[in-house]
Amino acid sequence: MAVGAFADRGADLELVGIEKRFPGFTAIENLNLTIPAGSFFALLGPSGCGKTTTLRLVAGLEEPTNGRILIGGTDVTNQKSFQRPVNTVFQSYALFPHMSVLENVAFGLRRRKIGDPVAKAHEALLLVELDHLAHRKPQQLSGGQQQRVALARAIVNRPALLLLDEPLGALDLKLRRQMQLELKTIQEEVGLTFLHVTHDQEEAMTMADTIAVMNKGRIEQMGEPQQLYELPRTAFVANFLGQSNLFTGPVVSTTSTAIAVDVSGQKIVVPLERAHRVSGEVTIGVRPEKLTLHGEAPSDDAGRNLMGPGTVIDVSFSGVSTQYLVAVPGVGTLVVFAQNMAFGPAAHVGAQVWLSWNVDHGFGLDDDPADSPRFEADLDTKTIAQQRRSSLLTELEGA
Ligand SMILES: Nc1ncnc2c1ncn2[C@@H]1O[C@H](COP(=O)(O)OP(=O)(O)OP(=O)(O)O)[C@@H](O)[C@H]1O
Ligand SMILES: [Mg+2]
Repeated sequence: MAVGAFADRGADLELVGIEKRFPGFTAIENLNLTIPAGSFFALLGPSGCGKTTTLRLVAGLEEPTNGRILIGGTDVTNQKSFQRPVNTVFQSYALFPHMSVLENVAFGLRRRKIGDPVAKAHEALLLVELDHLAHRKPQQLSGGQQQRVALARAIVNRPALLLLDEPLGALDLKLRRQMQLELKTIQEEVGLTFLHVTHDQEEAMTMADTIAVMNKGRIEQMGEPQQLYELPRTAFVANFLGQSNLFTGPVVSTTSTAIAVDVSGQKIVVPLERAHRVSGEVTIGVRPEKLTLHGEAPSDDAGRNLMGPGTVIDVSFSGVSTQYLVAVPGVGTLVVFAQNMAFGPAAHVGAQVWLSWNVDHGFGLDDDPADSPRFEADLDTKTIAQQRRSSLLTELEGA
């Protein structure tokens, strides 16, 4: 695409074998990624995993050590940043303070001598619902409105590819939620390709068609949000995207449809089609909201896995749901989320309980339990997941 031309629609982005080494540190390791034109793609991962570096490589602000970058089929690896059909919205959205909102948005068009800058700027402002404030100065706007101006300023150029680096980071939770929906609508309306970077798993799940979960410079798993959530491939994904109960044990029997794993003497069944590893030591899991608490040992049911008895060691009520921590001897502590269908919690601290879940809800990871230290050492992601959870709970309480 010629510089300055307006893209009618998004372009594919292809990263082929990208590696980025800084002196003494490899930030990106063999990254391969194809983002189809017109999609909303989220790169999700903890702090320092290489998200901004990836965006800077695509924008041409950083040179890859190895690999190629293609936009709309054209190899742009050796193009300068201003030659690429790309715009970036950074977390710190510097607007020109002395210019009106309208002039801020029209600025890039004027500089590139594109026709009708004012009309095009108004159009972009309409899209972010700020045209009525076009003549204000940035400091007369709220933080969220300023962020939308920054977005209009990027969209007005109709880049084939829009890069968003935590563009909602400065907003409070409520405005962020609102902007997430608006951004998604804008992307659908303009049909451009969005590459959105975030460490907020809810944000990624709300907005993206496809999520790539990044960990230490590598993509651990990529797919539709629901697919990633329901069938995580690694322990990292299972715990970064929501929470999981994970168990490790040997596969003790296999049928044509399922494997059975011995978890400290309790036989847990996982459907074959949901298990990445089918022999030897494996790690299997189930999401906390899929578990049911029982006050008495439930009778055997081939369709359900059973674990227990265990002891409730913590109950935290959060309005919509209650989180129970249940210690099962030899297995560890399980997390259960239960909707509050009745008044008060279903079990109290110290109670003896059993847990069950539909066999179809379990999953088996691809990780080799023998080299799990790569994940165990990653306390940061656990912390982030915890923080995410508590901020969500705060939000729910406020609602
Ligand atoms: N110029 C540089 N020189 C050396 N190391 C760098 C440089 N830029 C980034 N890094 C390192 O590369 C890694 C990835 O950084 P990057 O900014 O891509 O992380 P990120 O995923 O965007 O994190 P955050 O969520 O905190 O923004 C980090 O460990 C960082 O310290
Ligand atoms: Mg970053």
